[in-house]
Amino acid sequence: MTVQREGDFILFPVKERFDSEFSFEEREFVEAFKPIVHYSEVVDVPEELKSLLPTSLDIIGDIALVRLPDELRGHGGAVGDAILKAYKSVLCVFADEGVGGEYRIRRLRHLAGENRTRTVHREHGLNYSVDVSKAYFSPRLASERVRIAEQVIPGEIVLDLFTGVGPYAIMIARKSKPSIVYAVDSNPAAFELLEENVRVNRAEKVKAMLSDAREALKKICKVNRLILDLPQSARDFYIDALESVNVGGMLHYYEIVEAVELEDRKEWLIDEANRHGVGVELIVTKEVKTYSPAQRHFAFDLRVSRA
Ligand SMILES: C[S@@+](CC[C@H](N)C(=O)[O-])C[C@H]1O[C@@H](n2cnc3c(N)ncnc32)[C@H](O)[C@@H]1O
Repeated sequence: MTVQREGDFILFPVKERFDSEFSFEEREFVEAFKPIVHYSEVVDVPEELKSLLPTSLDIIGDIALVRLPDELRGHGGAVGDAILKAYKSVLCVFADEGVGGEYRIRRLRHLAGENRTRTVHREHGLNYSVDVSKAYFSPRLASERVRIAEQVIPGEIVLDLFTGVGPYAIMIARKSKPSIVYAVDSNPAAFELLEENVRVNRAEKVKAMLSDAREALKKICKVNRLILDLPQSARDFYIDALESVNVGGMLHYYEIVEAVELEDRKEWLIDEANRHGVGVELIVTKEVKTYSPAQRHFAFDLRVSRA
């Protein structure tokens, strides 16, 4: 039921009469328009498969990415159509079949709408050009990027070593007052988007570098803050990254960890640093997102206390 206009009167539906200065009228109320709140309400798949529908999607600009379980593979079109129907801002739908390779690129399968992978994603007032088939981008890290940007002290030298299309680097440059933010990625397609994003967002403090991370570390002076966002193989770069941070500076280290191994990983981070003559204090451990039923994407903020 809903509020209705009738000539000069407005009729408010009530469940029962009560003392009031307003008069009461009896009316038949028509079923009100009910907005679709989730695509699963309009999806045309067999009833027994409905419980397998993913509850969450990644929406990047006007592109929706959905991870379908094997049982729903043959119903991708129906899922895609339902997503288009439920979310008016979505124009393209793809099945996300996992991230892989050195550049952490998603394998995609077109499901519905326009067959286009490039879009502009708006996050905290900034616009990022993204090509979901050519460079990594995750909208789920938006609040993590804010958490890091808020820690940056004016004048800091920051290094975003695995920058992708630049969302950490650009947010830091625009929301904080660093002296410079080096933004490094080895994927030429990501680098092209990064340069565009730096320009469009007028993030003049970002110095974009198309380079392998280790080569970049050799060229860049020590920094006050380093973001190491390569969660699948972060450990390979841990010591090189730590050795590039000034005493008193911070390393933001991300890794996918089995939840049951979290305590071991915290110990490893401290012991491994000590073994290489670097003292570190683990300031923050934070779960950023769920990666799989047993694995979590964790952020570890480590302050370098001795080099
Ligand atoms: C998980 S993504 C991080 C993206 C970014 N931090 C973000 O928030 O969107 C990892 C990035 O590291 C880049 N990468 C992988 N190996 C690299 C290397 N050896 N040197 C430089 N970049 C590398 C990939 O191309 C990819 O863009």
